[in-house]
Amino acid sequence: MLIIGAGGFAKELVEIFQHTGNTKKIAFYDDVNLNTGNLLFNKFPILKSEKEVAAYFSNNGNAFTIGIGNPALRYKMYKKFTALNGRLTSVISLKAFIGSFEVSLGEGCNVLDGATFSNTASAGMACIVYYNAIITHDCSLGDFCQMSPGATLLGGAKVNDFTVIGSNATILPKILVGKHAVIGAASVVTKDVPDYALMIGNPAKHSGWVSEYGQKLFFDENNIAICSRSGDRYILKNFVVERILVNEKFK
Ligand SMILES: CC(C)(COP(=O)(O)OP(=O)(O)OC[C@H]1O[C@@H](n2cnc3c(N)ncnc32)[C@H](O)[C@@H]1OP(=O)(O)O)[C@@H](O)C(=O)NCCC(=O)NCCS
Repeated sequence: MLIIGAGGFAKELVEIFQHTGNTKKIAFYDDVNLNTGNLLFNKFPILKSEKEVAAYFSNNGNAFTIGIGNPALRYKMYKKFTALNGRLTSVISLKAFIGSFEVSLGEGCNVLDGATFSNTASAGMACIVYYNAIITHDCSLGDFCQMSPGATLLGGAKVNDFTVIGSNATILPKILVGKHAVIGAASVVTKDVPDYALMIGNPAKHSGWVSEYGQKLFFDENNIAICSRSGDRYILKNFVVERILVNEKFK
């Protein structure tokens, strides 16, 4: 298995393979931090180029999983490694609790120790479900979402694509959380959340807007904001945020 990234979340993911004694073919990919050396934990190769990836896939099979937290970057890596002929693959801890009835997990989900999916819970593709996060009955996560450690979705709550639910946050029953939103740690969400919203506190209040890369958006007098990371452009109209221009240079 090739784990994309060699930072915090990637280091946590490898422990799942360590538990099963299945670490022989593990390698990481990181072409951003080029001074990390060639081995992680003095053991696992860190690949740094597409050429090395091609060689790895042909010798070890083409399964890869994404060990990066930021949902927009995860999506970028999904596209990049699929184009390199990789096969996005889920990594699910044996210490996670997955219900027996009508549970559905999309391809490429990473589920860590103690996470719970009740019967009738679902997640789309490439979600991260961290330690002790709980997804109760009839709840759903969209694609590329993150449930941080201890976060909880209660009966029928729905979280749309690319949203991050902070550590120990709780989403009350039947609440709808929009896409690309961020819910602060320990928040309790009692009302529906719009796309791109940043919500903090108990009860959670709207604290601002974030870009697809999780950067705060500062709207000017024309209600336009530019993401400081990607250069993408957003507009705010009637409490609705939309991305109106993608900075192709950043892609
Ligand atoms: C919500 C969050 C994204 C806000 O980040 P931010 O906008 O950079 O916030 P700041 O650190 O500038 O804080 C702004 C204010 O909000 C408060 N605040 C920040 N996060 C808060 C939270 N989760 N709950 C309550 N208040 C919070 C700060 O104390 C500060 O208050 P002040 O203005 O009175 O001093 C971040 O604090 C957070 O909770 N992230 C989730 C982390 C997490 O769970 N990660 C999981 C990794 S696996």
